[in-house]
Amino acid sequence: MIHIKKDHEIEAMRLAGGVSSTVLREVAAYVKPGMSTLEIDQYGGERIRHHGGKSAFLGYRDYPCNICISVNEEVVHGLASQRRVQFGDIVSVDVGVRYEGFIGDNATTVVVGGCDPAVQRLMEVTEQALYDGLGQALAGNKVVDISRAIQGTAEANGYSIVREFVGHGVGKKVHEDPQIPNFDDGGRRSPVLKPGMTLAIEPMVNLGQRHVEMLEDGWTVVARDGLPSAHFEHTILVTDGEPEILTCPDNLPSSPEVS
Ligand code: MF3
Ligand code: CO
Repeated sequence: MIHIKKDHEIEAMRLAGGVSSTVLREVAAYVKPGMSTLEIDQYGGERIRHHGGKSAFLGYRDYPCNICISVNEEVVHGLASQRRVQFGDIVSVDVGVRYEGFIGDNATTVVVGGCDPAVQRLMEVTEQALYDGLGQALAGNKVVDISRAIQGTAEANGYSIVREFVGHGVGKKVHEDPQIPNFDDGGRRSPVLKPGMTLAIEPMVNLGQRHVEMLEDGWTVVARDGLPSAHFEHTILVTDGEPEILTCPDNLPSSPEVS
């Protein structure tokens, strides 16, 4: 069942999106060569709490970290560890925040210091694929229109789309209906988009082949060929017109003035 949010729920989703996107920016700016992913995760947890939120991921299906940090060939759901990020790595950061009962979910991929131009291009195309996908999040379109736009952009540039993990509805729960594949799954019974739906759109794009495997930790998903992977995500609202990006720092709740 796809939840259509009421106005007061949408307002709460904006606040959650504001906190989630602000924390994502803060964490992205914090990542420096030599830092362990554990330090990055702890900083993420601190910033979430600073803004009055709670991690939506910690404890979700026993997920053990505040945020997801996926380095290079890691695709998604990377766990914090003693591993130190190095100059030339790319780091995907995924932040989900619960604020007053609703969730904002977003992700970005950043370069540590500098990287190979071919990897830089992978990141740019993945972000473009996200925007091309969310541009199709229009009332009357189907979910598969989002999927096709994302796949089109990624594959036109010679990259491949991860199929095992998909975007999703989001609200009081991290994962709600519908699922939003990043590839054309045929579109049979693809739901029609309606105003009031809140969706997390999140292409995962591999430089090499699309196939992935799970590490023994039961969470970290890696590209089977060991080549880099990028991940970008926004939570959006379907409206009567253009989609509204809810994971936007402008939506950060104003904190009470300290006098
Ligand atoms: N944005 C990711 C997703 O929707 C985060 C998953 S939450 C986790 O799949 F707890 F499972 F990591
Ligand atoms: Co998500």
